[in-house]
Formats: sequence, C-alpha cells, structure tokens
Amino acid sequence: MLKLSARMSRAKPSAIMLIADKAKQLKAAGHDIVNFSIGVPNFLPGEHVYAAVREALKHDSGAYGSNRGREDLLDAFLAHLREIGLDGYQRSNVAVGVGAKQVLYNLCEALLDEGDEIVFPTPYWTSYLDIAEILGAKITLLPCPPEQNYKLTPQQLDRALASNPKVFLFNNPSNPTGMVYTREEIAALADVLVKHPDTWILTDDIYNRMVFDGVGYHNFVQMKPELRERTAIVDSLSKTYGMPGWRVGFVAAPELLANAVVTLNSNHITNIPEVVTAAAVAALTGSQQVTREKCAEFASRRDDVLDALLSIPGVKCPRPQGAFYAFPDISVAFGKSHDGRIVGNDVDFCAALLESKGVACVPGSAFGEPRSLRISYTCPRTQLDAGLQRFKEFFAELAEMRESHAVSA
Ligand SMILES: Cc1ncc(COP(=O)(O)O)c(C=O)c1O
Repeated sequence: MLKLSARMSRAKPSAIMLIADKAKQLKAAGHDIVNFSIGVPNFLPGEHVYAAVREALKHDSGAYGSNRGREDLLDAFLAHLREIGLDGYQRSNVAVGVGAKQVLYNLCEALLDEGDEIVFPTPYWTSYLDIAEILGAKITLLPCPPEQNYKLTPQQLDRALASNPKVFLFNNPSNPTGMVYTREEIAALADVLVKHPDTWILTDDIYNRMVFDGVGYHNFVQMKPELRERTAIVDSLSKTYGMPGWRVGFVAAPELLANAVVTLNSNHITNIPEVVTAAAVAALTGSQQVTREKCAEFASRRDDVLDALLSIPGVKCPRPQGAFYAFPDISVAFGKSHDGRIVGNDVDFCAALLESKGVACVPGSAFGEPRSLRISYTCPRTQLDAGLQRFKEFFAELAEMRESHAVSA
C-alpha cells in the first residue's frame, strides 16, 4: 500500500483556517457573518509600496535571486532592527523567508532533531505546536493562565530551563492574547535566560510595531547583549505593513543559525521574488504613516472590545496592549445552554455563537487555553460594533441547564 511519511501523521491543517473556512461558507450561503476569526490586519500598504512594485516590474530580471535575500532588503531590515533598538547586526546575521511562518519552520528544522525538547508558553500561536510536532520534537508547554495575564514568569522559565531544552520559543507581542511584556518583565526573563547557556532562544516579535499605551517593544538581546549569540529574532511585514499575502519574513540571528536558514532556503524556496523584494524595501524604508495610523486605530478598537467584554458578567479579559487580538476567558458560559444547545466547552461555544449569531471566533483550545477564545478585531468598524453587540446578546441569552431542560421538557 502506498503510504505517506510517519511525519505526515503528525501534521494537521490549521485550526484557525478551519473556522475561517466555515465562516466563509456560511457567508457564501447568504448568512450575515461577522468574522473575528482570522488574524489579518485588514488594511493595505501605502501607495509608495505599489509604486515601487510598478517600477520594479519595468526592470524585472526574471532571474533567480539570493537565498539570503537581496542586499538592499537585508540593509532595509538591518535599519529596521536599529530603529527598534537592535544595533550591531550585519548582513551575515540576517535572512529573509516566505513569511515568518517559513522562517520559523526553517529555524526549528535547523535546531531540532527528533526527540529534542522545545519549550514555549501557552497560550501559543498554533503553528508553534504544529511545526514542533511535524519535526518530532518533545514539546513542553508552560501554562500561563489568565490569572497571570497570560504571561510567563521568571520562576516558570527558570524551572523549565533546568532540563536544558534545546529551544525556548517566545512571542511578544502575543498572538492570541495581545499581551505585551514590559521592559521590566523582559529584563527579568533575560536574567533567567543568561543562567541557562545551553538553550537556543527563538523570539517571534512580528507585531513589534503594533504596541499600545506607551509600553514599548523590548527584547532579550537589548537587555542582555550576551544573549545575541544564541537568540534568533523573527520578524515579518505581514501584520504591521498590511502585507500578509506578500509573504515576507525575516530573521536576525548569530551567523551559524542565519546561515542555516539560508541553506534551507536554498533547498526549499531559493529566493523571494524580485517584485516582492521591491515592495518589502519600500515598506521598510518608506513612510511609516499607515503603520502608525493603524496602530492608533487598533488601540482604540481594543478599548471598545475590552469595554464590551468586561460589561459581560463573569467574562475576564487581561488587557491586550498590542497586536490586534483579545483573548477573553469565557468559561463562565460552560455548563449553560443557548437556544437549547449545551455549551460544554470553548468549541461548543464558538460553534453556537457562529450558528446562532453569525460571529466567528477561534476556540482557545486551538492555542492551548480551552477556557478562552480569540477575537481578532480588524474587521470594518460597523461589523466590529455589530459583532460585539451580538456577542453580548449571546451571553444574555445563555440559560442555566436546569432552566433549559425545563423549557425543553
Ligand atoms: C505570532 C505569529 N508569528 C508568525 C506568524 C506568521 O506570519 P507570516 O504571515 O509572516 O508568515 C503569525 C501569523 O498569524 C503570528 O501571529
């Protein structure tokens, strides 16, 4: 019998895409759907990006390009690193990829043999688990519940690193929670990291230009420069420049690791296209106005989302300070019913919410926290308001189980 590799039995399609597809189908069938499910920025880059693409097309070579990335793009990324407080990287420390996802895959492939341990906090971005599983790594999750604001503590990190895992994977600002670590919190985690020199650090910081409330973006290498020798910082244009479909990701890492990514690029993708390179250079070096405006708009939407969520009795939501997600703990609804339908867990909740109110959210269990769900709040404003209203109505219509049994009896 023809068989796929054993590895493929561990590969799963993205849980987020499954919900997004269901919402799309319902919409196509004529239902009024508000989509809070997919993590897309919902804006387009500035006109200068398109102008750069039109210009590039006039001179397109049609040739293969550099496996590391074209030099002007590497330089644009190095300048971006300096702007966010990371000096001292050279071209030999950086590489591009087809989005942060492919960069992360390469990094994990470069570092993890089967059975090697990778540790990361929950809630986590879904692909971390999926990539580690495909590679056959030993996964250790560090639970960071809403009671600790979904944030990793230095004590947890210290305990987790005692076993010398091969890789510690971190994400700041966070998808799905929108949490942003303060300077003091990053400094305290960095203090722990220096005590464990045998662990590589992968830090996925792709939302670094989407931070609110003046918290600022901070990272381990700024706090402890000696960590640079074993830290890879992952970045992307997808979310902060409104360019998810353009597929441009980056890494800044010690040469050994950056070169490994380049070698894998040479086998997986060869290069990112010339016109995409031109767009990426323009995004990084041109006006940052669109990004700034969107960041301000997302901060104001965050306020509205949080107000709506916290007005619901029993719903808890640590205050997101970046990206464009809220991750409320909705477990107060579990064990109740809606329209005769039992809401036993986050998956039931999201299914009932989608079917009865047309609001699509991603169940928290997709991110390793089944008490919560993710709201991505970038949809058009009118939809956001309607979606929040329906979310509140859904809660108001929840019935205690005994009541609902009485109704159905
Ligand atoms: C935390 C995080 N990392 C990486 C990615 C992947 O980004 P890209 O579009 O650059 O592949 C995402 C996308 O949702 C994300 O939220």
